[in-house]
Amino acid sequence: MLLGGAAAGAGFAALTACTARGDDQDASAEAALLAVGADTVPFHGTHQAGVTTDPQAFATFIALTLRDETDREAIRRLLQVLTDDASRLTAGRGALADTEPELAATPARLTVTLGFGPELVRRVAGESALPSWLRPLPAFGIDRLEEKWNDGDLLLHIAADDQVTVAHAARMLLKTARSAATLRWRQSGFRRSRGSEKSGTTMRNLFGQIDGTVNPRPEDDDFPARVWVADGWMAGGTSLVFRRIRMDLDGWDRLDTPGRDQAMGRRQSDGAPLTGEGEFDEPDFEAIGPHGFTVIPDFSHIARARGDDERPTMLRRSYNYDDDVVGAANAGAAGEAAAGDAEISDAGLLFLAYQADVDEGFVPVQRRLDELDLLNQWTTPVGSAVFAIPPGCAEGGFIGETLF
Ligand code: HEM
Repeated sequence: MLLGGAAAGAGFAALTACTARGDDQDASAEAALLAVGADTVPFHGTHQAGVTTDPQAFATFIALTLRDETDREAIRRLLQVLTDDASRLTAGRGALADTEPELAATPARLTVTLGFGPELVRRVAGESALPSWLRPLPAFGIDRLEEKWNDGDLLLHIAADDQVTVAHAARMLLKTARSAATLRWRQSGFRRSRGSEKSGTTMRNLFGQIDGTVNPRPEDDDFPARVWVADGWMAGGTSLVFRRIRMDLDGWDRLDTPGRDQAMGRRQSDGAPLTGEGEFDEPDFEAIGPHGFTVIPDFSHIARARGDDERPTMLRRSYNYDDDVVGAANAGAAGEAAAGDAEISDAGLLFLAYQADVDEGFVPVQRRLDELDLLNQWTTPVGSAVFAIPPGCAEGGFIGETLF
């Protein structure tokens, strides 16, 4: 049937309006996407940015070793220049001696967070300035630590929603640091890209689990007492336990859904406790199932991690890693492993826990998990470091100034 002239005209007008609305929608979607690159997180403040910041998609952690000749004054100069670099870069400006300032123009919520190992604190202010918890962690039975991933004198934690931004900032800061320190290790991790999921969604790790549900929230009354150091040169700072934990993705593949859920005490599908309906439901560790056992197994990760304290005293803020398997291309050719067993992944969690005191936060929980936790079967700590994260600074100041 042919449309009459008037009807065809009306149809055309409707179509044009529709297309115009479509163009508007495309333009606003494009504007929203571009806002991701332009977004900034303030550098200055009571606390350093990058601890309670809604985690960015990409993070690189670089541990440095101070050179023998780097003394107190050299450390002061280093921290002053790193602070200057960081305050510029996080605002979307080039660092002072930036050879590629173009790369700095997309800050993408860049944060730079500095952490101190014991040696840096000792060189600046002597043994007495060391917080009691600033030392390597006690040894745990499950540890298979590789020296190349352990410790460090100065940590650069660089994170943004864009990987080019992170790479550029890392290079600028390393160029500043290299006369005073050498590279010890560098580890990079990732989460979902911004915009892939609703912001505030709890991340999933590479086992597929929702990871980070039970965590202190900055708006909680007791958050400061749990996470921020109250006094001394560290007032307003915190501690970071950084663990590189390998995850056996092949072994996890062989576990069925009920097995996975029992190991965790939560459902992988929606993160709800085995006694609840939704991710944020309070687990009932006393509930008994039809066979007379607790519904949430006593050996599950959440039952063991919870302990007597109702709420965890650490802020977990981990990143996934999935690195190249060195030599993987040659392994098959050399016939070292049967095709089905060939190593295809070096993946896991860059597990980060922030707390006011490592000995009250991370250590007691890790002790319990070390004694018993079904999840240990598929997870192995291979790297470990503890850093003091000093407080933030005001404009004109520098990170670490309270130590001098
Ligand atoms: C690769 C290793 C690990 C994986 C895959 C893992 C995964 C998870 C998951 C999926 C949850 C449940 C959801 C949540 O509340 O976040 C959880 C809870 C928790 N994990 Fe882990 N975790 C690992 C290592 C650790 C370590 C090393 C510690 C500390 C020593 C730890 C401490 C906790 C705590 C405190 C909770 C909350 C328990 C509660 O409900 O009160 N986890 N973990």
